[in-house]
Amino acid sequence: MATMESLIGLVNRIQRACTALGDYGGGDSEFSSLWDALPSVAVVGGQSSGKSSVLESIVGRDFLPRGSGIVTRRPLVLQLHKTEGRQEEYAEFGHLPRRRFTDFALVRKEIQDETDRITGKTKQISPIPIHLSIYSPKVVNLTLIDLPGLTKVAVEGQSETIVEDIETMVRTYVEKPNSIILAISPANQDIATSDAIKLAKEVDPSGERTFGVLTKLDLMDKGTNALDVLEGRAYRLQHPWVGIVNRSQADINKNTDMMYARRREQEYFATSPDYGHLASKMGSEYLAKLLSQHLESVIKAKIPGITSLINKGVDDMEAELDRLGRPIAVDAGEHLDGGRPGGDRIYGVFDNQLPAALRKLPF
Ligand code: GDP
Ligand code: NA
Ligand code: MG
Repeated sequence: MATMESLIGLVNRIQRACTALGDYGGGDSEFSSLWDALPSVAVVGGQSSGKSSVLESIVGRDFLPRGSGIVTRRPLVLQLHKTEGRQEEYAEFGHLPRRRFTDFALVRKEIQDETDRITGKTKQISPIPIHLSIYSPKVVNLTLIDLPGLTKVAVEGQSETIVEDIETMVRTYVEKPNSIILAISPANQDIATSDAIKLAKEVDPSGERTFGVLTKLDLMDKGTNALDVLEGRAYRLQHPWVGIVNRSQADINKNTDMMYARRREQEYFATSPDYGHLASKMGSEYLAKLLSQHLESVIKAKIPGITSLINKGVDDMEAELDRLGRPIAVDAGEHLDGGRPGGDRIYGVFDNQLPAALRKLPF
């Protein structure tokens, strides 16, 4: 039996294979239902609540465009793949499958450029996702989706419908029963006004797939604290709330190192008179572990359903391949299996390895 970690890795690879087949979820190919059955974590919240910052902290790398105003303008489907040993960290985009990025500043630039390629250098949004995979020994196996922030009014250069458009886009991700909702609210605003909680409450009234994250604890007014929220009294969820201190805009401008920021965040909780007693259950590193654990239990529970969907998907795909005549691998060669622990054979779906690989699944 595979370990849970490798199981999550496998689910990751299946999602990537779906992407290679041109299925981004919500499409109408045979694999849409398979994609929808696989759990992933969608990050939702108001504009500038700290969504992209939380994602970056979970990954432990600097690579996302962040800042005030509307920065994230297309969904970013981010797959984290844990590699073993002292592997170099690298990233790959779905739209640039042959290129390995080792400079994460260039990853950020490519996200910006690829966003602009669809939307222009505007404040407009597009629902077409960008796919990014990160391979690193330091990450946990997770699929995370960064989304544009919910807003209340259209600003100059945006269409009148943007408020609705963003909400519709975010909703398509969070209303899937298999989506885990990372609901981000800033601690320096009243939780009763949180866009994230408002939406999460609607699509997940029992709170079983919502993780409440409270950012900007460091920006609260002196003499106030967020214990009511963090201890679940203000808004109760099935999972515990996690408090976060991300890098401030000043930190970002100074290029404050991510690992330094994580240590500083831990110190913040450990030495806080208000939150000291919660310190071991606060912070980005804890959040990453919590999410990974939860994902494991969700996958475990869904294995029977996923297996039958995979079998159906494989049958459909084999029928399709038979109809088309089996093409040679589009992307075969040293790149495919080169150096990725666990092998990446599933990625080379067109060389007919996907069905064989899936048939060997341990469940
Ligand atoms: P998004 O629009 O929700 O993706 O938010 P961003 O991650 O882009 O963050 C918006 C701004 O808030 C950036 O300038 C961040 O540096 C800042 N920010 C986010 N989280 C925190 C936090 O916990 N503390 C402080 N001081 N600033 C934060
Ligand atoms: Na922002
Ligand atoms: Mg963002």
